[in-house]
Amino acid sequence: MSSPMAPADTSPPWWKTSVFYQIYPRSFADSDGDGVGDLGGIRSHLADLAWLGIDALWISPFYRSPMVDFGYDVSDYCDVDPLFGTLEEFDLLVGEAHALGLRVIIDWVPNHTSDQHPWFIDAATGRGSDHRDWYVWRDATADGAPPNNWVSSFDLTAPAWTLDEASGQWYLHLFESAQPDLNWDQPAVEEAMHDVLRFWLDRGVDGVRADVIHCIGKDPDLPDDPPAVAGIPHSALNDVPVTHQRLRAIRRLLDAYPGDRVIVGEVYLLSTEAVATYYGQGDELHLSFNFPPLLALWQQGAWVRCIEETVAALDSRGAWPTWVLSNHDNPRHRTRYDRAGAMLGEDPATTARRSEARARAAAVLLLTLRGTPFLYQGEELGLLDGVIPPDRRVDPGGRDGCRSPVPWDGSPDHGWPTAEGAEVWLPFPPEPGQRNRQALEADASSILHLYRRLIGLRHRGTALSLGTLALLQVGEGVLAYERRSGDESYVVAINLTGQVVELTGADADGADTADTAGLHGRTVALSSDGNDEGRAFSGSLRGDQAVVLAAAAPPVPD
Ligand code: GLC
Ligand code: MG
Repeated sequence: MSSPMAPADTSPPWWKTSVFYQIYPRSFADSDGDGVGDLGGIRSHLADLAWLGIDALWISPFYRSPMVDFGYDVSDYCDVDPLFGTLEEFDLLVGEAHALGLRVIIDWVPNHTSDQHPWFIDAATGRGSDHRDWYVWRDATADGAPPNNWVSSFDLTAPAWTLDEASGQWYLHLFESAQPDLNWDQPAVEEAMHDVLRFWLDRGVDGVRADVIHCIGKDPDLPDDPPAVAGIPHSALNDVPVTHQRLRAIRRLLDAYPGDRVIVGEVYLLSTEAVATYYGQGDELHLSFNFPPLLALWQQGAWVRCIEETVAALDSRGAWPTWVLSNHDNPRHRTRYDRAGAMLGEDPATTARRSEARARAAAVLLLTLRGTPFLYQGEELGLLDGVIPPDRRVDPGGRDGCRSPVPWDGSPDHGWPTAEGAEVWLPFPPEPGQRNRQALEADASSILHLYRRLIGLRHRGTALSLGTLALLQVGEGVLAYERRSGDESYVVAINLTGQVVELTGADADGADTADTAGLHGRTVALSSDGNDEGRAFSGSLRGDQAVVLAAAAPPVPD
């Protein structure tokens, strides 16, 4: 007897309406006093993350690693490095997160291993070894030059090749020499990396963030990069057809699991159009990071361009965007905007005045765009990059500043008590005495509460997550758009200048000053500086102020 057909589930997958939060484990929280964050630290703050309202965590690598690239050099994909904890502890973490309604995705690093991975150790024993062709080798030539002109990612003066004297062959590494690239042309490599995915999916993770996923296919001829792009690392250029076929196989693997497991890819190609191709025909990545917005300045024109390019490249293929302002590889956005301001001639007093206002308005931007937002740990505290003295620098890629540890309280150790002889691995960001989780949680007007209220507003209906987005022209230097889903409508207006702007309400063609943008009669549902909420919108924005305007009397955010 056949069972009645269940109605087709047409509800959107969870990752379209979710707000993600990136955890860089070394810098999030420490549970054992060695000065390096760990899984125990994450477990002890899960409730704090749930309080913020986020839906999902992306946890950067915690696998066994010699830590040359702080975990992105993996020597065992299926175990937790003792520095971070144990597999059992990871299982507890996932269980506890799920109990709080938080999904968990983890980093998967399929392009390269550590040179200490048993596969590479074997490969390096000689040309005839079992794993030799799991990596990319080329014979040395008489002139002693590397096999091609590809440049590695951290040292832009260094070739992406290292000569193995013993065998007289070079091996390829798009990153550090301690991170040899896997050879995905060898089917056993693809199978082994699929097994890694299954290992974690079977343990209950909700998906993966795939590290430099656009690099798993290489042009078989390994041709030189064109002279016009000399000095750009090959990892930012690699874009070949075979990768798409490999992504389809990965996607089939994920889709065979229940529960809408997700793959979000790091496609570090600085063109949204190129990034869009990695969604395939809905059969490759579910989501992809898109870097132009992460590098964009605090300027209306830059953001209009990012939004228009995203709509043009992604909507046409039914691909769902992501939005990211900061991560573990780039200066935090507050720091980026401050630096750009200084470079554009802003005086230090103005930068100091605008700095947090910009960070608050950027939060409104991130959490009201159409697509899935990813927060980077600490941006909810408005953290700046740490200032790292030369003798404390540890990252080969110069990224220590954005990896400064999260200050949890105002005590002298900021919630990172260390055992005798241990030191927190990096200095704290500026002002940890005031700018810490405990102090900002106690202050209802803080940026932390702003993030919480924004996430709450985003989750209240579907306009701010799934709804349509229409750009509006309402004033010079102001980025504005309407988000709509059925009758539910919000207008978001963000002043990216330091001055007051009176909004005109002109329509997208700039045709007139009539209220075609529909600002009239709207109520301030949320304001980045916390003022005027619940009141009728005055029609003007203070410098670096962002507002979310509701159509009618809005629900009062808590
Ligand atoms: C990605 C990671 C970065 C890492 C690199 C090599 O870009 O985000 O942190 O260094 O890949 O794995
Ligand atoms: Mg620790």
